[in-house]
Amino acid sequence: MIPAILPTYNRAPLAFAKGEGSWLTTMDGARYLDLGAGIAVNALGHANPALVEALTEQAGQLWHVSNLYQIPQQQKLADLLVEHTFADTVFFTNSGTEAAELAIKMARKYWYDKGQPDRVEILTFTGAFHGRSTGAIAAAGSEKMVKGFGPLMPGFKTLDFGDHDALRAAMTDNVAAVMLEPIQGEGGIRVLPDACLKGLRDLCDQTGVLMILDEVQCGVGRTGKLFAHEWSGITPDIMMVAKGIGGGFPIGALLATENAAAGMVPGTHGSTYGGNPLGCAVGAKVMEVITDPAFLAEVNRKAGLFRQGLEGLAASHPEVFEGVRGAGLMLGLKCKALNTDVVKASYGQHLLTVPAADNVVRLLPALNITDADITEALARLDHAAASLAS
Ligand SMILES: Cc1ncc(COP(=O)(O)O)c(C=O)c1O
Repeated sequence: MIPAILPTYNRAPLAFAKGEGSWLTTMDGARYLDLGAGIAVNALGHANPALVEALTEQAGQLWHVSNLYQIPQQQKLADLLVEHTFADTVFFTNSGTEAAELAIKMARKYWYDKGQPDRVEILTFTGAFHGRSTGAIAAAGSEKMVKGFGPLMPGFKTLDFGDHDALRAAMTDNVAAVMLEPIQGEGGIRVLPDACLKGLRDLCDQTGVLMILDEVQCGVGRTGKLFAHEWSGITPDIMMVAKGIGGGFPIGALLATENAAAGMVPGTHGSTYGGNPLGCAVGAKVMEVITDPAFLAEVNRKAGLFRQGLEGLAASHPEVFEGVRGAGLMLGLKCKALNTDVVKASYGQHLLTVPAADNVVRLLPALNITDADITEALARLDHAAASLAS
């Protein structure tokens, strides 16, 4: 008999009742150190007092009004995002997938309005993940995600990650945009080198092709800058944001330059819940905390500490780990053992980690994880690896 919850997930037998900072407590009182943060969502830890206050204060005033009206909380968050990024304008969504959908629509409308309605193709890369909508799975193109769900939305071409020649050859007059994650999350914490991002930006500038960056997982302070692309010095035309921006409350955003957004006039897009007062009140508080240079400096310091520890861990368990990858607090352990076995062994040590493709275990802690919790996490990973080796 099919379970009451549609069985699309292989769930671990863990149910949590309470969270505080980097720790989760199960229904029966066991404490787990959380290095997954809801897959890079709880950027400021569980039950962060400032976020709880922002949410409850707003909840006592107003939950929902339609986008038919002015929403001051939405205006505040949009202003903050515009102030701190390349973007001139923002559309709020409830998830990363919805932001991806709008990115696709925006890029196509841009060329349609320029009198090039056939310029619809969007180039993507192997290992990409942009969500589970019909558009987002067509964009990622992997067999695992699309099998059985055809016919797929046309107009996407998936290129091999890192194949520069194929990319140059694919940049034809039909291409509307390239869409990519500066660091692939689901794909296995695969970092696109800064030089590649710069080269791609140059190629986009030469051809007019729009650059869409998906910073749903790697954005909002995760790499030690507000957004990951800032390390390379380039800016995109369009960017998807979600996960960390709500600190656990579901909210996403699509950021764009005025030029890229030119086609999105009244009536071309909408959302009932996107930009609701609750999500935006929390998002504005997250932005306030994360845009503080002292906060980002701490993320970088802790990332250095964690990475150094992980390098040591990998070196002392060569039969379990091949190495460490990633940037900031978006880290991956490339495994020699099965990554899902490492995740299970970590559960045994009351430590939560997240598997990814390419046999990688993802470590995406709260950005304000304490030094003591990093030390504790390293010790638990060490025990988990030892238990596997034996
Ligand atoms: C890079 C990236 N893009 C898009 C998405 C989809 O976001 P959501 O699950 O909020 O729809 C995800 C989710 O994991 C992601 O990691």
